Amino acid sequence: MNFKYTEIMDFVKTEIARGTYKSKLPSIRGMAIRFSCSNSTVIKAYSELENQGIIYAAPKSGYFINQNNTDEGKEFDFYSGIPLSSYLPFDSMEKAYASSFRENNMSIMNYSYSRGYDKLRELLAESFPMPIDKDNVFILSGTQNFINLIVAMTTRNQQDILVEDPTYNLLLGALDAYGKKPQHIRRDLNGLDLDTLEEKAANKEFRYFFTMTRNHNPLGTSLPKKQRARLLKLAETYDFYIVEDDYLKELSGDDCLFHDDPDRVIYVRSFSKTISPSLRLCAMIVPDALRSEISRTNSYMNTGASLISQDVLHRYLTGDAYLKNTRVLRDRIEEKCTLLKTALKDCPYPYHVPDVGLYAYIELPEDFRTMELLDNLAAKGMRFRSDVEFSADREVRGLRISLSRVEKKAIEKGIQELLHEMKSISSIKPKQKDIYI
Ligand SMILES: Cc1ncc(COP(=O)(O)O)c(C=O)c1O
Repeated sequence: MNFKYTEIMDFVKTEIARGTYKSKLPSIRGMAIRFSCSNSTVIKAYSELENQGIIYAAPKSGYFINQNNTDEGKEFDFYSGIPLSSYLPFDSMEKAYASSFRENNMSIMNYSYSRGYDKLRELLAESFPMPIDKDNVFILSGTQNFINLIVAMTTRNQQDILVEDPTYNLLLGALDAYGKKPQHIRRDLNGLDLDTLEEKAANKEFRYFFTMTRNHNPLGTSLPKKQRARLLKLAETYDFYIVEDDYLKELSGDDCLFHDDPDRVIYVRSFSKTISPSLRLCAMIVPDALRSEISRTNSYMNTGASLISQDVLHRYLTGDAYLKNTRVLRDRIEEKCTLLKTALKDCPYPYHVPDVGLYAYIELPEDFRTMELLDNLAAKGMRFRSDVEFSADREVRGLRISLSRVEKKAIEKGIQELLHEMKSISSIKPKQKDIYI
């Protein structure tokens, strides 16, 4: 449906791109006359452009182009997982920072307790459908900080970590940095190899199993219900803990494992993808049995999450804009997913696109020359990513398609080129086998 305010938004964006407006935008009244609409329709269009970081309002002066908004996506970037700055709630964050400085005394400039800011921990503890003890909630400087903590703790305790393969590339990087070789089990588009996991659990080969139940990175899938239930049962039977990385909570459907059994799951929720990576915050919620052990390690390993960030996040989560902005973000990502589903429908290989999520995945045949494919696409200015860096055994099994930065208008053409290149590669004989190092 085309609303008048979206028409105004499109018009303003085009004129900015053409250079018609250098700095100041036409007045609200002027625009209302031009589009034969009310002032409030123009205000709605301008507010939405402001939310997107394209313009900003200067009190009593009008609206201006945000010259700092320079990171619009490279058109055919299906590679990067970094969010577009224009999708992040700049305006709401600006207000939250301003009110944090206005309403707090100088204590906001100080260290935070290593567990995190009390008010935020309380809010997060209360955000679950089941009772959660605030003492089990910790605020850390992003998932990266959490990964360092768990790897350090298990190294000291001589415990092993089991990962799914593929898994989060930065987890593999951190394990490697500590000289720790993780155990791994296969996860593909259908789910986890739970039989192998059970064998390893029975042999006490690991103490923690790291997983992404929903919106897996790079697969884009959620764990089927039956597998979720079996995994929890196995954790109970063989006494291991599940680390659930819920990095995309706001955009994920289905249930997380933590809801089903908070006693068996260390739950980690980042705020980077849906609010702002610059906050550098995540929440970790731990089972009672692990609280004192983790708390002790945390007091040394936690680099001290910024108190300002924590206060700002608390203000943002309790304000009106949070739900509204999340809905807008969800709609945008959902639209991209729908476009990608349509574009991929003739893909010759198994693939998965979530209804709402940042990553989709194509499973490639074992002998597929993925490197050649990526090089050919790169020569056309299109960036895709194999899953080799997400693989514990450095095997390439597929392609991750990221929707984080790609423009909506580029999806159809980018995927057409991808399918075309895939077809031509699979129909000619290999010159030499791809080598990954
Ligand atoms: C699997 C996964 N976990 C967590 C995160 C978020 O990390 P952080 O909280 O350190 O920004 C990301 C972001 O890319 C991710 O892909």
